[in-house]
Amino acid sequence: MLRMSFRTIIEPFRIHSVEPLRMTTEADRQQAVRTAGYNLFSLRSQDVLIDLLTDSGTGAMSRDQWAGIQHGDESYAGSPSWFRFLESVQDLFPFKHVIPTHQGRAAEKILFTAVAGPGKAVPNNTHFDTTRANVEFTGAEAVDLVAAGGGDPSALPAFGGNMDIERLDAFLRGRPGSVPVVFVTVTNNSHGGQPVSLANLRDVRAVCDRHGVPLFLDACRFAENAWFIRERESGQQSREVRDIVREMASLADGMTMSAKKDGLANIGGWLAMNDDELAATCRNLLILTEGFPTYGGLAGRDLEAIAQGLEEVVQHDYLRYRIRSTGYLGEALVRLGVPIVQPPGGHAVYIDARSLLPHIPPLRYPGQALAVALYETGGIRSCEVGTVMFGRQSDGSEQPAEADLVRLAIPRRTYTQSHMDYVIEVCGEVSTRAAELPGYRIVEEPPMLRHFTARFAPIGGDDEPPAITLDR
Ligand code: F0G
Repeated sequence: MLRMSFRTIIEPFRIHSVEPLRMTTEADRQQAVRTAGYNLFSLRSQDVLIDLLTDSGTGAMSRDQWAGIQHGDESYAGSPSWFRFLESVQDLFPFKHVIPTHQGRAAEKILFTAVAGPGKAVPNNTHFDTTRANVEFTGAEAVDLVAAGGGDPSALPAFGGNMDIERLDAFLRGRPGSVPVVFVTVTNNSHGGQPVSLANLRDVRAVCDRHGVPLFLDACRFAENAWFIRERESGQQSREVRDIVREMASLADGMTMSAKKDGLANIGGWLAMNDDELAATCRNLLILTEGFPTYGGLAGRDLEAIAQGLEEVVQHDYLRYRIRSTGYLGEALVRLGVPIVQPPGGHAVYIDARSLLPHIPPLRYPGQALAVALYETGGIRSCEVGTVMFGRQSDGSEQPAEADLVRLAIPRRTYTQSHMDYVIEVCGEVSTRAAELPGYRIVEEPPMLRHFTARFAPIGGDDEPPAITLDR
């Protein structure tokens, strides 16, 4: 164990295989982002120096995971890789049925196809986009009931991801028979990556029991959540993270999972539950779209990588480094006067672009403006989480989102502290000339999920791309 008296948190690994970064100039990047219609999703990743677009599937695998890949057994049915995967999932999450999928959203699609539908409603602390989309696709309603305190992005409490217990209780009372499942997302990605406490999970469980509704976890970042519980919740400090995870699982009836996050793998996921009848329905849907129940949407080698990843992700030295490095980035930005969602989450730091760029109104997309500036200035790719992502309403009108944030998501075990020091320096530089950054307008957008493919032009810029101009 690391001695806590040293301030420097080192990466608890050394580098075994390296991937070169391609250095670019500011002029190269200005050209690249212009060609991409000022949409960072449209860049070629080779033109990105530090890629903080997502922490999903972008982590570095360990020596033992790569070794596991060599043990991958590609038998169609009953492969030893499947049994290794099953054992390591059930060691942490002892649900009776485990259904492997190619990633988290496939698990969501199968579950909601089985339980949701018109007239139904699914409460969650905060739905992630794909979770919401999969609920709504069935005709059901996706309802966010995150606890209060979320309104002010600069002051979230220790467990800012918690469910609002009273609102959940009232919601279930008002909709008897129409709620097939209650979800809790750990950590709460769409709400600053904030954790959920064990006490809150216990309270959610009690409310679900009172109303006879099952509770599922969206467990993508379960290990990071458990580490926060160990650090911040009273009486948890001497516990093994593994045990905390098992307690989280014991409070639920099932889970969806993306192994691209806390599975430490590049692809994969699963759906798990105790209910036999529901499992049979889900397995039939799995065979239709993913594959046979002992591999789902995955190759045997992927099952091996995930099985090994689950052993590594609950190790304390790893989690201490992981959560400290996110905190390190967040605290340095605060020292430079860059406003962020406080405290920093587990997997990401969210910059409050609306308060950094008060001269850019929400409908001129301050988050997009900041994300483009971070790319042009330093080759850093981030993700707007604001009015571009959420502003288009179902009736076609446009409203400012609740907040305009820019997410710096940190891939697992991929970048070193000096990469983060560089990110801090670039953010500091951009914030000193925040007042000069232009707003943007959308020149082309699809009817749904526009943030992935919309094209933008800077306001007052002379280089608006030749594209269909929407009148607004
Ligand atoms: N649930 C949460 C909380 C997520 O963050 C994600 C993915 C999913 C479900 C879906 O999992 O990608 O394996 O299908 N989040 C990524 C992100 C994409 O960038 O936050 P998936």
